[in-house]
Amino acid sequence: MKVAVVGSGYVGLVTGACFSETGNDVVCVDIDARKIERLRANDIPIYEPGLEDMVRRNQAEGRLSFTTDVGAAVERSRVVFIAVGTPPGEDGSADLQHVLAVARTVGQHMNNHKIVVTKSTVPVGTAEKVRAAISSETTAPFSVCSNPEFLKEGAAIDDFMKPDRIVIGVDTDEAREGMAELYGPFVRTGNPVLFMDIPSAEVTKYAANAMLATRISFMNQVAMFCERVGADVNDVRKGIGTDKRIGQAFLFPGPGYGGSCFPKDVKALIRTGRDVGLNFEILDAVESVNEKQKLVLLDKLRAAFPQGLAGRTIGVWGLAFKAETDDMRESPAIPLIEGLLAAGARVQAHDPKAIETAHDVFGDRIVYTADPYSAANGADALAIVTEWLVYRNPDFERVKTLLRQPLVVDGRNLYDPARMRAQGFTYHGIGRKKAP
Ligand SMILES: NC(=O)c1ccc[n+]([C@@H]2O[C@H](COP(=O)([O-])OP(=O)(O)OC[C@H]3O[C@@H](n4cnc5c(N)ncnc54)[C@H](O)[C@@H]3O)[C@@H](O)[C@H]2O)c1
Repeated sequence: MKVAVVGSGYVGLVTGACFSETGNDVVCVDIDARKIERLRANDIPIYEPGLEDMVRRNQAEGRLSFTTDVGAAVERSRVVFIAVGTPPGEDGSADLQHVLAVARTVGQHMNNHKIVVTKSTVPVGTAEKVRAAISSETTAPFSVCSNPEFLKEGAAIDDFMKPDRIVIGVDTDEAREGMAELYGPFVRTGNPVLFMDIPSAEVTKYAANAMLATRISFMNQVAMFCERVGADVNDVRKGIGTDKRIGQAFLFPGPGYGGSCFPKDVKALIRTGRDVGLNFEILDAVESVNEKQKLVLLDKLRAAFPQGLAGRTIGVWGLAFKAETDDMRESPAIPLIEGLLAAGARVQAHDPKAIETAHDVFGDRIVYTADPYSAANGADALAIVTEWLVYRNPDFERVKTLLRQPLVVDGRNLYDPARMRAQGFTYHGIGRKKAP
């Protein structure tokens, strides 16, 4: 099938690559000419495991191409995905200007019946706005369709190729049949394609992200409670996660959720609720707990240095908002490091993939190290922000020797507190049992 994907960021690029992998003829489009130039040369602007190989292979075999020409891409395609960004506006609502700009261009190039799919995360009612924007440019018939994306950065290819489910909001037979054909190869093992009406598909995406964010904020407060009453959140997590009604996923406390989705989608759902007269109280709480949680490591470091952080050097392991990505959007590393710098501390940081991104955020205000041990070298404390595999089992003796004092503040509970203490560290996790 001939497919156009407009917007070649995390979602658009993965979507385009995976559809070409299953034999479709895909063109990925972006207004960023530099990005398209790099993609044509198989130079992938983001880090995502498996993506580079897939782009290279499909481009070489002629099933995947890149262009800045939205109109031409639309004209040659039967299905057009809109996968551009929907950043938060001033009032927390999703900014739809890019989505609607693409929709108008699609309308101008509607040369035969097309299925126009919103893949971007967009508030309920957006498909109707897309329909109106296209209709303002053409009288030709077309279908709109909502197909929210549930991939996780860091495991995006796997998630797209083997989805738990695919959610598709449709209101025409053409759209239902076209989407069923396109997604058939991804659900051969029986995972469901859930067809529903368009508003329900749009709400499903926000409800899923809001539920996951809620679990994280809930566990962060349980962790705080554990610290106060002498319990260990790790045991509590296992104790509740084995309950089938609860399940194991998304129960890890940490330094607060970040990334390009949860913070903005929670805000946007609160905002859409308000627009229809519903006060989403539960999400107000989720958000405010998360804002506080992003300062948890800074608070622990402040408590460890009652004389103040001025003149101290803090080593930081991890800058990305989570492991296996170079994405730093809303990363908890940002408020931590900004807080440390404002308090007069020096920061030396390591990340396996996000150093380039971090340069855009901090410039030369912090020191970037090529390996984790150099970040610990001469530091007064080590703070762990991201759960990269390479930090899970380091040479603790070496870390202890390099640190000026053996203080580790672990935002991801990577280590066993008893073992850390036995090795001579002062160790603070999130919600862990204090030393007897
Ligand atoms: N990143 C994720 O993990 C994820 C997961 C699920 C859903 N989403 C949603 O998918 C959407 C895209 O997210 P992303 O992370 O891929 O964003 P991104 O910022 O990485 O990519 C968006 C791309 O769209 C391009 N663009 C903007 N306006 C354009 C236009 N008029 N024509 C062509 N290209 C244009 C930009 O240049 C950019 O390359 C958002 O709505 C997001 O909420 C993201």
